[in-house]
Amino acid sequence: MSAVQRDVVVAGLADLRARGRIVVEVDGFEVGLYFHAGEVRAWHNVCPHQGGPVCQGKIMPRTIQPVREDRKSAGPAFHPADRNIVCPWHGFEFDVLTGRHPADRRVGLSGVPVRVVGDEVVVRI
Ligand code: FES
Repeated sequence: MSAVQRDVVVAGLADLRARGRIVVEVDGFEVGLYFHAGEVRAWHNVCPHQGGPVCQGKIMPRTIQPVREDRKSAGPAFHPADRNIVCPWHGFEFDVLTGRHPADRRVGLSGVPVRVVGDEVVVRI
C-alpha cells in the first residue's frame, strides 16, 4: 500500500445494495464491499487463516443452536439477521458487519475505511 492514502470511488451505492457484495481491485489490492442491515463495510480480500480470498465466499446466515427448557438442543437453526462470510478455502466464517470470527473474537478480517458519499461508495486506500 502506498504511504499516501487517498479516497477512491469504488462502486455505486444502489449497485452494492442490490448485490449485497462487490469485490473490487484498487491499486493491486482486492477489497470486498458489503451492504447488510443498512450498513456498508469493506474488508481486505485476505483470510486471516491462510490468506484465502475470503471475500469471494458465500454469505450465509449465522448458525445457532437454541436450547430448550429441558436444556437439550432444539437442533440447528439460522439467526434471523446475522450474516457470515464463509471463506472458500477452509470454511472459516466472519461476521459481515464486524469482521470477527464467531467463535474466536481475536480473529478477524482486516477492515478498509469506507464511507458513502451521495450515491457512491468510497474507500480510503
Ligand atoms: S484461508 Fe480462509 S479458511 Fe483457510
